[in-house]
Amino acid sequence: MRLAELDPQQFTAWFRHAAPYINAHRGRTFVIAFPGGAVEPPRVAGLIHDIAVLTSLGVQLVLVPGARPQVERRLQHHGLAPRYAHGSTGLRVTDADTLACVRDAVSEVRTTLEAQLSVGVASSPMAGLRLRVVAGNVITARPVGVRDGIDHLYTGEVRRVDTDALRQRLAHGDVALVSPLGYSPTGEAFNLSAESVARSVAEALGADKLIHLSSHAPLRDADGAAIRELTPREGRAWLDDSAALPEAARRLLHSAHQACAGGVGRVHLLDRHQDGALLLELFTRDGVGTLLTPDPFETLRTAGLDDIPGILALIRPLEAAGALVHRPREILEAQIDAFTVVERDGAVIATSALVPWPEEDAGEIACLAVDPDYRGAGRAAALIQRLERQALGHGLRRLFVLTTRAEHWFRERGFEPADADALPETRRALYDQGRGSKVLIKRVG
Ligand SMILES: CC(C)(COP(=O)(O)OP(=O)(O)OC[C@H]1O[C@@H](n2cnc3c(N)ncnc32)[C@H](O)[C@@H]1OP(=O)(O)O)[C@@H](O)C(=O)NCCC(=O)NCCS
Repeated sequence: MRLAELDPQQFTAWFRHAAPYINAHRGRTFVIAFPGGAVEPPRVAGLIHDIAVLTSLGVQLVLVPGARPQVERRLQHHGLAPRYAHGSTGLRVTDADTLACVRDAVSEVRTTLEAQLSVGVASSPMAGLRLRVVAGNVITARPVGVRDGIDHLYTGEVRRVDTDALRQRLAHGDVALVSPLGYSPTGEAFNLSAESVARSVAEALGADKLIHLSSHAPLRDADGAAIRELTPREGRAWLDDSAALPEAARRLLHSAHQACAGGVGRVHLLDRHQDGALLLELFTRDGVGTLLTPDPFETLRTAGLDDIPGILALIRPLEAAGALVHRPREILEAQIDAFTVVERDGAVIATSALVPWPEEDAGEIACLAVDPDYRGAGRAAALIQRLERQALGHGLRRLFVLTTRAEHWFRERGFEPADADALPETRRALYDQGRGSKVLIKRVG
């Protein structure tokens, strides 16, 4: 696309906005699962492009493609009827003829991906990028066996993942391609579900993300609204309500839920038909899919009266050291709704307050404090971000802060030095000259 066709301002704003995500994703391991249909036109070009972008940005990628339409076509060609077991598994039953079709289909998908990712002409997404895709026998499988009286024959399940081999390839900057075929120590091949291979690989690697591109994502509630974010506990509630989701979406959520419980950092469920879904999910704040994150061990929330002992334990030493101005308990009680706290394992480890001065469209950031054991991990920044959003919600246009020790901390976050005259008039009257606090201001509205 030529720059003239883009809105330059929008482009610049978008690129800047994406920078923190680029930094956050570099060197991370993502496992991306997608169905065989995603490897066929018209969607394959977009998928290849997005894989190329992620690789150029230093993301370590494991790709797990399915091959269902490719298998179905071969079965049809040979006049074979697909067989699925009903009952508890609902899996394909793979006899020897079907296995031959699966092997053929899996190799078609693999070679298509390898070919597409090798294109190097100037107009392609791979221009200037040498992508090495490596496949191989990293999955050891065992037969599913006889279940509900049905012998699943060459349908298998994952027994082990060769993580050493995968890690070595990723460390070399290669893209790892893991097909849904596994091999048993007796030398037989087994047909596996791509979804379970992706989950097993993501768990075994301790991947930062498992991403499913699926026709059944994002998950939707009864009104058709996309479900944006779920903790495993919320996911469990959706699974327990058997009528809440269509069967295929339910199976997807079940697999995602297991992956979360198995230690995968985050699981993203994206609509495979949406062009650019991967990039929109990974490089914008709101994303476009359903995200499963582990239960928060720490919460950031509005304070209540029960938090007063915890807040006092945190701020009294800082007051004594002169970093914070003394705040009598009664004032704290009266202002408690203005406070946000970070609670970890039942203890308040960080806090701050937004005191509004609505007649002047202004708000004061007060009492910002982080427990010394927990500093340097972005908690204060997260608190300020939340207070900024609150200020916007209150229709405030300026935030100010008075600080003796943290001037540079605020300046690095967009606050600018000002003099006391810039304070709201009523606040100026309370300004303690002797304390020598620096005044800093940031526009938010
Ligand atoms: C200032 C304070 C809130 C920062 O908390 P935090 O959770 O460590 O902050 P974050 O993790 O979001 O930010 C850490 C970054 O800020 C820097 N930083 C911390 N205190 C700073 C200060 N006083 N001045 C300048 N930079 C500071 C750290 O070096 C770190 O930078 P780095 O990532 O480049 O190494 C915390 O040090 C504190 O509670 N201080 C005592 C109370 C105080 O002074 N409060 C402000 C009164 S308004």
